[in-house]
Amino acid sequence: MEVLVTGGMGYIGSHTCVQMIEAGFTPIIIDNLCNSKFVVLDRIEALTQVRPLFYQGDIRDESFLDHVFSQHNIQAVIHFAGLKAVGESVSQPLAYYDNNVTGSLVLVRAMCKAGVKSIIFSSSATVYGDPERVPITEESPIGATTNPYGRSKFMVEACLSDFFHAQPDWSVTLLRYFNPVGAHPSGTMGEDPNGLPNNLMPFIAQVAVGRREKLSVFGQDYPTVDGTGVRDYIHVMDLADGHLAALNAVGRQAGLHIYNLGTGNGASVLEMVDAFSKACGKSIPYEICPRRPGDIARCWAATAKAEKELGWKATRTIADMTADTWRWQSHHPQGYQSES
Ligand code: NAD
Ligand code: UFG
Repeated sequence: MEVLVTGGMGYIGSHTCVQMIEAGFTPIIIDNLCNSKFVVLDRIEALTQVRPLFYQGDIRDESFLDHVFSQHNIQAVIHFAGLKAVGESVSQPLAYYDNNVTGSLVLVRAMCKAGVKSIIFSSSATVYGDPERVPITEESPIGATTNPYGRSKFMVEACLSDFFHAQPDWSVTLLRYFNPVGAHPSGTMGEDPNGLPNNLMPFIAQVAVGRREKLSVFGQDYPTVDGTGVRDYIHVMDLADGHLAALNAVGRQAGLHIYNLGTGNGASVLEMVDAFSKACGKSIPYEICPRRPGDIARCWAATAKAEKELGWKATRTIADMTADTWRWQSHHPQGYQSES
């Protein structure tokens, strides 16, 4: 079965393509490479012995999308493409609304023309804002987002939900990711942020490998186990498997399907630092700094709905996440940069 994967050269998309190929799907990737490298295709091929078809282009280019759809018998779309840096979204809101919102609308319009009626969208736990209670269920209120990136995810969710109500024969799946981390266990594919990492795990990994001097821990006065922020870190391979489970369980069933993809467990910043130290056998220098504006104290997923309806559950541990991140980072200290 041919599945269009937008943003398939990126961090989550590339791992998902590997798992899709292993499961017998044929991913067709489109990506404009604004945040990824061509060499990812070689890595997918080396791991699976299959080189996925790749079209370089932008999801906002409707004639490009029409062309891709016309060349294949695409049955479903997994839509990863978008911009994701929270801080950058504050300084460049139009770029975020254009890529994430306009891009999604152009994609759905092209799908309509091509008669493809199944979309799985990369949403985020950010749509829940600062949750009243944890674990966060899919029924928790959404929309109290604190930055343009989060609002773009909320807006696309709203557009897709409204669209589904007008076209109830479609399968629309919204997957709300918690905090994706980790890398392929081979050490050949992983997260490769441009410039200073925004997120905790790539920052710790770059400190461990010597690219950064120390980690800034943003706040130690939250009402949590040790005062640092608590998040639900999920291994990218579990997340990839979650997409396959969604594709198999609901991707061909008309409906609006909404799932959290998380582990159901929270870990603090200092717990993650400690786990990474154990994985890499080095101490990770850090300093306690003021809170980062817009951060919340704690956030973890209720996972029962995905377990029951998708038959999917995250199985990889924090030890797996840190070990796999370290294998990738230590084998590729500069990420993909020196290799493309
Ligand atoms: P990523 O940046 O590694 O991958 C996104 C890919 O999309 C990149 O390869 C990029 O080149 C491509 N892209 C961006 N804009 C495009 C456009 N207009 N046309 C074509 N290609 C385009 O990010 P990721 O971490 O793999 O995230 C994938 C999706 O999951 C994103 O939508 C992101 O917002 C969402 N998400 C990510 C996280 C996270 O922490 N990584 C958490 C929640 C949700
Ligand atoms: N943190 C630090 N130092 C750093 C980076 C992060 O102490 O250098 C802390 C943060 O304060 C927070 C925790 O580590 O307590 C996790 O921060 P991340 O930036 O890794 O992740 P967030 O939970 O802030 O946000 C991530 C993605 C968003 C997504 C959200 C929910 O960046 O895109 O998860 O899925 F929306």
